[in-house]
Amino acid sequence: MKIAVYPGSFDPITFGHVDIIERAATLFDKVIVAISSNFEKDPLFTQDERVEMIIKSTDHLQNVVVDRFQGLLVDYASSEGANAVIRGLRALSDFEFEFRMALMNRSLNEDITTLFLMPHARFTHVSSSLVREVASLGGDVSQLVPAHVKEALLKKFKR
Ligand code: PNS
Repeated sequence: MKIAVYPGSFDPITFGHVDIIERAATLFDKVIVAISSNFEKDPLFTQDERVEMIIKSTDHLQNVVVDRFQGLLVDYASSEGANAVIRGLRALSDFEFEFRMALMNRSLNEDITTLFLMPHARFTHVSSSLVREVASLGGDVSQLVPAHVKEALLKKFKR
């Protein structure tokens, strides 16, 4: 069974993330969307809220599960029987961080391969941090996140 881990903060999940998950789900038997539980600086959504939002956003995909992990990503991946880590690449600006992370993960565990997938071009500018900022200032995020995430954002920012 081919298993991949798609790790991240997902604060909150966006249509860009969903696009990557859908692509990964066609390539692997099982995709584990894994929220990192390592020290986070002031997240907007709790882990439970994020898990819930990811489950709702991926309920059309039978081979996707949601989990959280602590510690090193490669240790988590190998404990789940995964030999691939999925990361999304939107623009050149993502590259340097992703490149360093992929090589660090490889130096920690040679058996885990990082695969980069590109989301549809319409999501190139979409990131969780920009979604949070736009929503906090009253902007419309309908094109950026699923409807239930938009509702959760409106509630957080009491609009
Ligand atoms: O969505 P993000 O915030 O870019 O995700 C970053 C994440 C969670 C994938 C990364 O910080 C991570 O893998 N953390 C786990 C700790 C770890 O393994 N660090 C060493 C890899 S460089």
